[in-house]
Amino acid sequence: MNISDRPIGIFDSGVGGITVFKEIKKLLPGENIIYFGDTKHNPYGSKSKDAVTRLSTENVRFLLGKKVKYIVVACNTASALSLPFLKKIFSVPMSGVIEAGAKAALEITKNKKIGVIGTRATIESGAYLKALLKLDPKLKIKSLACPLFVPLVEEGWAGSKIAELTALEYLKIFMEFKADTLVLGCTHYPFLKPVIGKILKKTGLIDSAAETAKAVRKELEQKSLLRNNTAKPAYAFYVTDGPARFKKVGSSFLGYNIGPVKLIEME
Ligand code: DGL
Repeated sequence: MNISDRPIGIFDSGVGGITVFKEIKKLLPGENIIYFGDTKHNPYGSKSKDAVTRLSTENVRFLLGKKVKYIVVACNTASALSLPFLKKIFSVPMSGVIEAGAKAALEITKNKKIGVIGTRATIESGAYLKALLKLDPKLKIKSLACPLFVPLVEEGWAGSKIAELTALEYLKIFMEFKADTLVLGCTHYPFLKPVIGKILKKTGLIDSAAETAKAVRKELEQKSLLRNNTAKPAYAFYVTDGPARFKKVGSSFLGYNIGPVKLIEME
């Protein structure tokens, strides 16, 4: 098989990374894609760096077994905690979501005040803070972990009154701070965009997924890895637990039936 015909592998701690899958599929419609969701070990956002790195390493091994040509670490927590390690031990080209999100935030901020929200692990790692300050050391940044957001999305309550009240409580610090840009530093948060947008009306919301897709296209181009086969691309979904639930949430988010979701045994 020609190397450019091989699939792009995407992994996340669960279904949230489907936001990244959607953008990559949209921008690179000719590419074969394999999506792997480690639903059994979700959430990653409350785990230690060691645990997330161990799980992420297994996820990469699984995708390499599927002969992927490129890996996208769609999970913000895994990108923040484990990407440098993964890049060191694996030779397959790889990208995460942090740098792309930081770059997009810098492009739209006018007052140079940026808010960042994510899981506890992502925020405590300071990965977004470092990535943003590397781009512009003069930026003023306020970060906040919003651990209640992921379960609200998982429960299908992203548009509920509870989600609104929770968001109001978390996000008021960004109103006081007068951030003109907020980085949604977690795969699940784009699901909450309508609720967040209602509270932070004038704030630009950065969803790293679209920026990540652009970065992936650029790197595949540079490495001459873009698929130029006109045969219809294939998409495959694998999870470590609850394939039916994944299929339901994933299909509902994408707006079409995603087809079979395969269950993988993983310790
Ligand atoms: N995928 C995770 C992230 O983007 C959110 C869910 C989790 O905690 O596993 O940080």
